[in-house]
Amino acid sequence: MARKKIALIGAGNIGGTMAHLCAVKALGDVVLYDVIDGLPQGKALDLLQSAPIENFDAEIVGTTKYEDIAGADVCIVTAGIARKPGMSRDDLVGTNAKILSQVAVGIKKHAPNSFVIVITNPLDAMVTLTKRVTGFPKNRVVGQSGILDSSRYRTFVAQELKVSVASVSAVVLGGHGDDMVPVRSSCQVSGVPVERFISGQRLDEIEARVRNAGGEIVALLKTGSAFYSPASAAIRMAQSYLQDRKEILPCAAYLEGEYGVNGYYFCVPVMIGSGGVEKVIEIELAPRERKLFEQSLARVKELVQTMDKLLAAS
Ligand code: APR
Repeated sequence: MARKKIALIGAGNIGGTMAHLCAVKALGDVVLYDVIDGLPQGKALDLLQSAPIENFDAEIVGTTKYEDIAGADVCIVTAGIARKPGMSRDDLVGTNAKILSQVAVGIKKHAPNSFVIVITNPLDAMVTLTKRVTGFPKNRVVGQSGILDSSRYRTFVAQELKVSVASVSAVVLGGHGDDMVPVRSSCQVSGVPVERFISGQRLDEIEARVRNAGGEIVALLKTGSAFYSPASAAIRMAQSYLQDRKEILPCAAYLEGEYGVNGYYFCVPVMIGSGGVEKVIEIELAPRERKLFEQSLARVKELVQTMDKLLAAS
C-alpha cells in the first residue's frame, strides 16, 4: 500500500514540529512548503537525517513550489505570522487573511481532494476563508482549536490535583479567542465531576488561565507563540483522518444548525474519520456555559466581518 502524503503549508515552528511528529509516528511522506527559500529544504534534510536513528522510512521534502504538494491526502496550514507579546490572535487578521487567500488557491489547485486542517490564527476567520476560497465541502475543511484548549484545561486540572492527565477529561468549545468556553459541566476526573475535587473559585482561576494559556506562552517566548502543543493537536486530527480512527475531538467545524449556529465555524466536538468531519456531536451545556457560548459566537461573527472588510479594502 502506498504511503499517505501530508503537506505542511508553513515550515515555521509548528510546521517543523508537525513534520517531526509525522515522521516518528510513521503517518506518511511529508512535504514541507514555505515561501522562505532554504527553510523548508533545510528542515526536511535535518529531519531526514534522523530517520536511521528513529527508524522511519518516510520521504521528507522541503519546497517553495506548490506543485510538490500534488496528491496530498492531508494539508495542514500554519502559513502566516504568529503573535508577539501584547498582541491578541485577532490582531493577526489582516496579514494572515492575505496569506491564507493565496495558500487556499494553491491547495485547491494542487491538492483538490485533500483533507485540510487550518491552524493559522485568528483561527475561526482563517478556516472560514480557507473553505470559501477552496470551495471544498465542509467535511474536508476544519480548524484546530479545541483539542489544544481542552488539553490545556486537562493539564491545569491534573496539575492542581496531582493526578495523571490521563485521568482528566475536559472539553473547551467556542471560538479560539480569549472568550473560549471551558465546559466545566463536562470536566471529569476519572468519570467524577471536577467540582467534587476543586472549588468553584479555584476552577474560575484555572479556566481563566486556560483562556489566556496561549498569551502566557507568547509573553514568555517573546518572539513567537506556542508550537509543540498546537502541532500535537493538529497531528491528532490528521491521524484520526488518515487511519479512520473516528475519534471525537473538539475542532472548529462549519455548523449548519447544530448548537443553533448557522454558517459559521465554531469549535464543537466532531467525529473525524476517513470521511473527514463525519459527525457533529451535540452536548448539553449548563445555562451559564450557553451564555458564554453565545458571547463567543458573537465575537467570531465580528471577527469574520472584520476580515471581510479588510479583504474588501485590499
Ligand atoms: N505561504 C507559505 N508559508 C508562509 C507564507 C505563505 N504565503 N507566508 C508566511 N509563511 C510562513 C513563514 O515563512 C513561516 O515560516 O509561515 C511560517 C510561520 O511560522 P512561524 O512564524 O514559526 O509561526 P508558527 O509558530 O508556526 O505559527 C503559525 O499558527 O498557531 C498559529 O498564531 C499562529 O498564526 C500562527 C501560525
